Amino acid sequence: MSFKAVVKGVGSYLPEKVVTNADLSERVDTSDEWIRERTGITQRFIASENELTSDLAVGAARRAMEQAGLGPDDIDLVIVATATPDLTFPATAAIVQAKLGIRQGAAFDIHAVCTGFVYALSTAEKFLASGQHKQALVIGAETFSRILDWEDRTTCVLFGDGAGAFVLSAEPADQADGKGIISSCLRCDGSMVDLLHVDGGVSSTQTAGHLRMQGNKVFREAVNRISSAMMEAADAAGIAPAEIDIFVPHQANQRIIDGVVKKLGISKDRVISTIAQHGNTSAASIPLAFDTALQEGRIKSGDLVMLEGMGGGLTWGAALLRY
Ligand code: UT7
Repeated sequence: MSFKAVVKGVGSYLPEKVVTNADLSERVDTSDEWIRERTGITQRFIASENELTSDLAVGAARRAMEQAGLGPDDIDLVIVATATPDLTFPATAAIVQAKLGIRQGAAFDIHAVCTGFVYALSTAEKFLASGQHKQALVIGAETFSRILDWEDRTTCVLFGDGAGAFVLSAEPADQADGKGIISSCLRCDGSMVDLLHVDGGVSSTQTAGHLRMQGNKVFREAVNRISSAMMEAADAAGIAPAEIDIFVPHQANQRIIDGVVKKLGISKDRVISTIAQHGNTSAASIPLAFDTALQEGRIKSGDLVMLEGMGGGLTWGAALLRY
């Protein structure tokens, strides 16, 4: 029997503390005007000292499970997309599994930075489509505030903390009503590590390190790579990108989102943008934006939704689903 991976629940979680552009301009040589004009960001949420990536992930997961009407005994796969794990090991997914009281199935992390959620969703889809697992919790969760150099104005103004989660169920394809993940496209070009990386790690420096980015070089790569992944995902489903109902992009820069939308002829009223409120939350940004749009009534049952991400690696990718 073939199965579809159908989205049954969505949830998100943000820390309480809001840091505005004005707050940052007291710390580094920047301004609200520069940040808003160059990125679209007006504020970001920052985790408190004792709040870990797994705590944000659990907050989002609980809401997604509640919406799906599922409890800890029902989930048999937990995948956490994160570049800011609680510990070097075990996987943050194992910690999340324990905090949620899930005692069966598999749990592991996926590390594809800002493309992490697209990688995780595509991976979960393959586990569910094979029939090996039945109900998956797929989470994007980050505490990027912990790897920022707060003296570096070129990076510290861009990122925030948060989490978002999907519950996916394996449903027999002939009973799924056309819903579920339809196609995905995952890509990586490791030759561009220097453009965006963290300058520390277990094996190299035995420290967590700080995020370093040549922002304008990453920007130049973004629109074309994201658009081509979206075109491949759309092609695989036999549609044109302009036919999608809703576009939920990774929230890195409003100008990148606008460039992709223009290039692919997607109508602006179909685009979900939460960058102003959340900043760039890396692997959390897509499910966070998705949940925000759901709460605002902008995504409806049966909508054809395109997701995309791009980030460190460089990695990039897209996924198409019917909600
Ligand atoms: O999610 C992971 C993937 N990441 C991305 O997709 C990020 C892609 N890159 C970007 O979004 C943009 O490149 C940035 C928002 C990071 C930067 O915008 P930009 O328009 O590419 O600016 P730039 O790096 O070319 O810098 C322009 C100027 C520079 O000054 P000079 O050399 O022209 O005098 C920077 O020093 O802006 C200066 N600058 C700032 N000024 C005020 C850089 N950061 C700031 C700042 N406040 N925070």
